[in-house]
Amino acid sequence: MSDNSLDLVIGAGSGIGHALIERWSREGSRPVLAVARSEASLAAVGALGVQTQHCDYSEVALAALAAQLQEQSSDITRLVICNGVLQGEGYRPERALNQLTTNAMQQVFEVNTFLPMRVLASLAPVLKRSEAPRIAVLSARVGSIGDNGLGGWYSYRGSKAALNMMLRCAALEMRRVNPAAKIMAYHPGTVDTPLSQPFQANVAPEKLFSPERAATALDTVMASLQADGELSYLDWRGETIPW
Ligand SMILES: NC(=O)c1ccc[n+]([C@@H]2O[C@H](COP(=O)([O-])OP(=O)(O)OC[C@H]3O[C@@H](n4cnc5c(N)ncnc54)[C@H](OP(=O)(O)O)[C@@H]3O)[C@@H](O)[C@H]2O)c1
Repeated sequence: MSDNSLDLVIGAGSGIGHALIERWSREGSRPVLAVARSEASLAAVGALGVQTQHCDYSEVALAALAAQLQEQSSDITRLVICNGVLQGEGYRPERALNQLTTNAMQQVFEVNTFLPMRVLASLAPVLKRSEAPRIAVLSARVGSIGDNGLGGWYSYRGSKAALNMMLRCAALEMRRVNPAAKIMAYHPGTVDTPLSQPFQANVAPEKLFSPERAATALDTVMASLQADGELSYLDWRGETIPW
């Protein structure tokens, strides 16, 4: 392990991200840098004793984050990108074609697909020379085309499927530039966070995970990852999800 090793959580205001940071800060293996949009989220994770950085996820802000990590010769050991939305101002997950709007599709794809890929693109030089980075991007099982037997949730499903495809490209590229790196698209299960709250009514209590349980599972699955030059699409049990 190098002296500059670092765990990095992007979207640290997420319920799952916060619990993971709490776990990692308790574990104390290496410094943790938590990145989020809101000062309130940063204050909450900052209270856990980790480093924090505000970021509005603009190209400029992500470039500044990458430059800072480059300057510090940071060696990213674990990177988790948590950002994702299911609904927002004026839109909900679509149940039928006649509910599709350009506004909703754009917003969901921006946060769920473009943002994680822009993060990876900005951090690529740091990841390239990190020793053995383990990268988890929060996807979702509903992004599986093969597993889609119900339909609906067009934007969310589509944005996660597109994310998976772009992550596959990134894994193939990373195989060439840093064969010790490993990327995973991850399904955390249904987790009790603001994202899932409006949709929890039909979820059996034993199938609704606390953020702490989700963080433990993510940590365990990340620890089992082997650098094989492939994108893994895994769930909270470490089981492969069909594309
Ligand atoms: N909860 C579940 O049941 C479940 C199931 C499957 C997959 N997932 C995935 O797991 C990930 C984390 O979800 P969560 O359940 O922890 O949700 P959450 O607590 O609602 O957190 C939402 C996350 O999305 C980011 N975000 C929201 N709006 C954004 C915007 N306009 N621009 C940029 N970032 C924005 C937040 O970033 P900041 O920290 O910067 O505010 C935060 O990281 C998501 O990708 C989600 O799709 C969750």
